[in-house]
Amino acid sequence: MNDDLLRRMPKVELHRHLEGAFRPEWLLEIAQENGIPLPASNTESLRPYVQVTAQDRSLLDFLGKFSVIGQVFTSPLVIERLTFKVIEEAARENIHYIELRFDPCYMSLCRGIPMPLVAEAILSGRDRAKGRYPKTQVRFIVILQRQLGTVMGEKALQIALAYQDQGFVGVDLAGDEVNVPPEPFAGLFSRAERAGFGITLHAGEARGSESVRAAIETCNAQRIGHGVRITEDPSLRELIRERGIPLEICVTSNIQTGASRTYEEHPIRSFYESGIQVTVSTDDPGVSGIDLTHEYGVLKDKLCFTAKDLQKMNLAAAEAAFLPLSEKTALKESLELEYRKYSQ
Ligand code: ADE
Ligand code: ZN
Repeated sequence: MNDDLLRRMPKVELHRHLEGAFRPEWLLEIAQENGIPLPASNTESLRPYVQVTAQDRSLLDFLGKFSVIGQVFTSPLVIERLTFKVIEEAARENIHYIELRFDPCYMSLCRGIPMPLVAEAILSGRDRAKGRYPKTQVRFIVILQRQLGTVMGEKALQIALAYQDQGFVGVDLAGDEVNVPPEPFAGLFSRAERAGFGITLHAGEARGSESVRAAIETCNAQRIGHGVRITEDPSLRELIRERGIPLEICVTSNIQTGASRTYEEHPIRSFYESGIQVTVSTDDPGVSGIDLTHEYGVLKDKLCFTAKDLQKMNLAAAEAAFLPLSEKTALKESLELEYRKYSQ
């Protein structure tokens, strides 16, 4: 299984932030074309402002990169282009289905783009990409940002509701897990669930089991973003296995935020072997300086996952997708068909 085979393997990704997918090269290009000041004028000197370095160790260091990235959200066209480029990258890695998440409040507040225009720009980028890369299906998850509080959360939920029939399928809680618990957002998640959205929350990344338990019990999370630190609580780990709550695991991001110390110590292998529903994603490929194929390479080289294991995790991701049953079944069938060809 060489890198080329890994790149060509049909994939499903459930957890990728649009804003965090910005490559330093794209940021520079957009800034130069639009006369937007950035702290550096070439890729190498811009990199430490927008990508994790060896000095960064925590989730808050990681999230700090978004203040410079936010400077380029000066017009809807930037968002349209970002969305197109992210889907283009996904198609080049043979991603058949991707759920892209974004925070409409962050994209709007950074430089004042009205929130509905953020959503419209994302949909235009998606539509342009669909013409070029029809094999890659795309859906969107709207993020409520912990540190922006519930008033902004309400505004984000309104955007999710307004565009629900255009491919907005889920609602997430992201941001500062260290200082902001999920409980105040429970009412917003309950409304999102009643409206038919899939519910996923970032949890167990910068905090331990109490945060994951609250995500499940208070906000009714159907999937968990990361969940790495459930290792600290065997009974919670068993509950997640027994209920089949899928984990959206992002190994490189987990090391960069300090959720896991090294690749070798990452619990993904033990989760997988114990029957937890494990799926693999990139989180913020631009900020992390990776792509999904890189993550598959790490799983193969450092954690001894085989092609069959990776295929099984993709089928688990298809099963966990925020799609109606018939579309989920069609996605799984198309993957299985390609995996049979792939193994010949
Ligand atoms: N926003 C972007 N990436 C994130 C992460 N890994 N955790 C929480 N919020 C995020
Ligand atoms: Zn994330």
